[in-house]
Amino acid sequence: MAQLWGGRFTSATDRSAYEFNASSSFDKKMYREDIAGSIAHAKMLGKCGIIPADESEKIIEGLIKIREDLETDALHITDEYEDIHSFVESVLTSRIGDAGKKLHTGRSRNDQVALDMKLYTRNQIKLTDRGIFDLQKTLLGIIKNNTQTFMPGFTHLQKAQPVTLSHHMSAYFEMFIRDRERLDSIMNRMNTCPLGSGALAGTTYPLDREYTARLLLFDRGPTRNSMDSVSDRDYLIEFLSALSIIMMHLSRFCEEIIIWNSNDYGFVEIDDRYSTGSSIMPQKKNPDIAELVRGKTGRVYGSLMSLLTTMKGIPLAYDKDMQEDKEPAFDAMKTVTDCLREFNGMLSTMHFNNAVMEESAKQGFTNATDVADYLVKKGIPFRDAHSISGRLVLKAISLSTSLDGLSLSDYKEESEAFEEDIYEAISLRTCVEKRSTYGAPGIESMEKIIAYYDDYLKKGAEEYSDMQI
Ligand code: ARG
Repeated sequence: MAQLWGGRFTSATDRSAYEFNASSSFDKKMYREDIAGSIAHAKMLGKCGIIPADESEKIIEGLIKIREDLETDALHITDEYEDIHSFVESVLTSRIGDAGKKLHTGRSRNDQVALDMKLYTRNQIKLTDRGIFDLQKTLLGIIKNNTQTFMPGFTHLQKAQPVTLSHHMSAYFEMFIRDRERLDSIMNRMNTCPLGSGALAGTTYPLDREYTARLLLFDRGPTRNSMDSVSDRDYLIEFLSALSIIMMHLSRFCEEIIIWNSNDYGFVEIDDRYSTGSSIMPQKKNPDIAELVRGKTGRVYGSLMSLLTTMKGIPLAYDKDMQEDKEPAFDAMKTVTDCLREFNGMLSTMHFNNAVMEESAKQGFTNATDVADYLVKKGIPFRDAHSISGRLVLKAISLSTSLDGLSLSDYKEESEAFEEDIYEAISLRTCVEKRSTYGAPGIESMEKIIAYYDDYLKKGAEEYSDMQI
């Protein structure tokens, strides 16, 4: 049992209480962040003359070596350490001697863990953003290739009006734009450094907090209140909330893909690489990946609820309850990056059955609104036109045909305003092309949106050209 405290204790912690309290088994994930924070702190202590410059250098070299050894598997984080902070400090001291004991001058594990968690989250936000960016690239490819792929648009899961595959996919592209904007705003709000806040009330040493904030790339400088700094997990709750919304979007998308991939729809076929079979039914090819992404949404929502609940009754400042932020948060972060990657793989290899979608758009009277609009152009009030079109739908149902299948005399029985040009006016192509308002599926309006997306993705492409993941 390796602890950083013990002076005021007369007996050791009960073994199982120790294990119950320890966090190294899961906070070891943050070793890079912990070491980065310690390096910045040691640099600042040396620069401010709080510890001798040569000892500051020794500490920094020691920390760099520990990081190297962990990365090359020459050193392992074992459960005998209470947490990642105890591990790094203990190993450092055992390696460099007394100088190692000075690292924690003017610092508490409370500001240390607040910093580690912020650094870890910052990195995860970037990884999530990258995952969405990659998915948007796939989506834009589909959008560009399908401005003339007609399909039914639905409301209430009933065929409503014809749209294009391009337009349908662009709805998801928009959701993912908002997701990335949310991540960006969280990143901006959390861009302050808690290091130097001490346990809760700052320290008596002349720390240069501006300096450590700069070293750790917190653009908005140090946090302004030491009590808030050590007990703030708002940014994490915001991130979990943004992750939940991303999952909600992916889940809706998955739900549609599952429906489209079903035998009766046949709009798409998920590639073999992203499908699974049944152990008993030889004919089956199941959309497991889509179902799993949909299923994992509950798990991510759970993490958000868990942290919100953990935080709701905590008096200022730090309380150990806050250690409970890590496992659900780490789980949610990994779940979402995994889901984004697998979903993207599934989408980019998925086959769209354009002919089936187009045939489906022709069924179900998706052009009934256009019949009414035709009459409106001939001077008939919309409400009357709506009713005439409805009667024509009834007539088509009774004759087992579509609106295009009715004869001109069928039309004229309902209104003398109908002419031969009704057929052209309600063809699938016309129905889509006439929808030319900004944001509508019409081919020309879609071209404008595509140009916007091209421009939008350029920014991410520059940012991610050299990102290591
Ligand atoms: N493992 C702790 C956590 O995750 C680190 C901070 C410990 N601080 C303390 N005062 N016990 O929150």
